[in-house]
Amino acid sequence: MERLELLYVGKAKRVFRTESEDLLILEFTDVATAFNGKKKGNIADKGAINNEMSVYLFNTLEDLEIPTHFVQKLGDREMLVKRVEIIPIEVVMRNIVAGSLSKRLGISEGFELETPVLEFYYKSDELGDPMINEYHIMAMKLASKMEMKKIKDLAFKINTCLINEFSKAGLKLVDFKLEFGRYKGQIILADEISPDTCRLWDMKTNEKFDKDRFRRDLGDVEDAYKEALKRLLGGR
Ligand code: TMP
Ligand code: ASP
Repeated sequence: MERLELLYVGKAKRVFRTESEDLLILEFTDVATAFNGKKKGNIADKGAINNEMSVYLFNTLEDLEIPTHFVQKLGDREMLVKRVEIIPIEVVMRNIVAGSLSKRLGISEGFELETPVLEFYYKSDELGDPMINEYHIMAMKLASKMEMKKIKDLAFKINTCLINEFSKAGLKLVDFKLEFGRYKGQIILADEISPDTCRLWDMKTNEKFDKDRFRRDLGDVEDAYKEALKRLLGGR
């Protein structure tokens, strides 16, 4: 499948049209942003790593009958995906307190939550992705009640699967962000699953292997991304 014209430039990905109406090509770049684009940089090989990790995890989820937009890996930095209508909600799942939850509730990072916490944020760069709840989602007609039921169900199933995958890699899945889309009347998982969108801590030492190394200037960013992928793929 050839890439045709550029349709959209995101913060870390570029989206191309293909000869098929139903398919798009995602290109993962090395550009890193944080704090709603206020901090910018480059992480060497990040595009290839995030593509490879997403390919592996989408395949794993598909094997468990969780529908995703993934069709095929095309190149080091490219994947072919189904053309979905993105639902403008960031779906965040948390197993361990970190980041904005720690600040909001005054709970130390690292506190293990009794049950996973699901949160929704309205995807809007101008507004800085404000947190919303299901009432806002219904009132703004971002998604229907049935769609939200499906999204919640998929998010918890995905959490169980990803916790298991990362634990085999010696990593704790602290939290992560998902995006869903509509495709031929179905809700499917879209976007990516990578160290950009997950917090991943070493099982024993809590060393960080994710984008917090960039956000917080912790150093060894490239090596952390490489190590997370290496551990996940294991001998493969
Ligand atoms: P937070 O603690 O900053 O709210 O982030 C929760 C999780 O969501 C964390 O794994 C990082 C991820 N995330 C994104 O992928 N994109 C974003 O824009 C934000 C704010 C968080
Ligand atoms: N990706 C988001 C941004 O640029 C935020 C983040 O991941 O911290 O701004």
